[in-house]
Amino acid sequence: MSDKGWQSDQLGDVHRRSDKATRVRSMFAAIAPSYDLNNRLHSFGMDQLWRRALVRMSGVAAGERVLDVATGTGDVALAFARRDAEVLGVDFTPELLRIARGKRVEGHPRPLYVAGDAKRLPVADGSFDVVSIAFGIRNVDEPEVALGEFYRVLRPGGRLVILEFSQPGFAPVRWMNRLYCEVVMPRTAALIARDRVNAYRYLPASVSTFWDRGALMGAMGEAGFGAVRSRALTFGVARLYRGDKA
Ligand SMILES: C[S@@+](CC[C@H](N)C(=O)[O-])C[C@H]1O[C@@H](n2cnc3c(N)ncnc32)[C@H](O)[C@@H]1O
Repeated sequence: MSDKGWQSDQLGDVHRRSDKATRVRSMFAAIAPSYDLNNRLHSFGMDQLWRRALVRMSGVAAGERVLDVATGTGDVALAFARRDAEVLGVDFTPELLRIARGKRVEGHPRPLYVAGDAKRLPVADGSFDVVSIAFGIRNVDEPEVALGEFYRVLRPGGRLVILEFSQPGFAPVRWMNRLYCEVVMPRTAALIARDRVNAYRYLPASVSTFWDRGALMGAMGEAGFGAVRSRALTFGVARLYRGDKA
């Protein structure tokens, strides 16, 4: 397991490691077959409600072009497709994209998927109405570079929407959430999904050491986005962000 995923002693500084991208990709490749099941079980089905809230926050209209970055198994792409948007999903883990390509929503346009890096998106300047990224920005090494890319590929008037885990502000909820994420979830993930790459230890470690709300909103502003705003979901366990390109 040395070069795949994470060793326990590597989890203290995940965002500063030079091998973050390699380890993140090998971790997601290893858990790809059980990724959706783990999401549903560990969020008690809330993850799909959060993704739908992300789509609503984007204000997407039928026929608009959406780029879903770090699309994974395509659940956000499908939520946009349900609104009859034209969706392209990008991700750097082919094992997840294979699962995404097998999904569709009857009666709605099928999203397209392409392998690519959030830091060098394989699309033209100004070519999308909406860019979305769910539970992805925290996983990208150099997220400020990715934010610059999101700005580049949006047309003037385009919207960036982000969904990410967060630390609840109310202390008792924060403690309960920490107990659940740091103690319960890694154990159930090991049992259910035979997590051999410490993905469910990486998750709370990467959330607690990532940009907080102010830092993420500040970075969105630095990348050029205006009218930056944020909304808590489920007591602040997760958060939505939106920024607009003038
Ligand atoms: C937690 S998953 C989220 C997947 C999906 N958006 C969802 O809602 O389930 C994080 C995703 O980020 C992708 N990822 C991380 N860094 C990336 C990068 N630099 N470029 C493209 N994808 C990246 C991983 O491959 C993985 O699919």
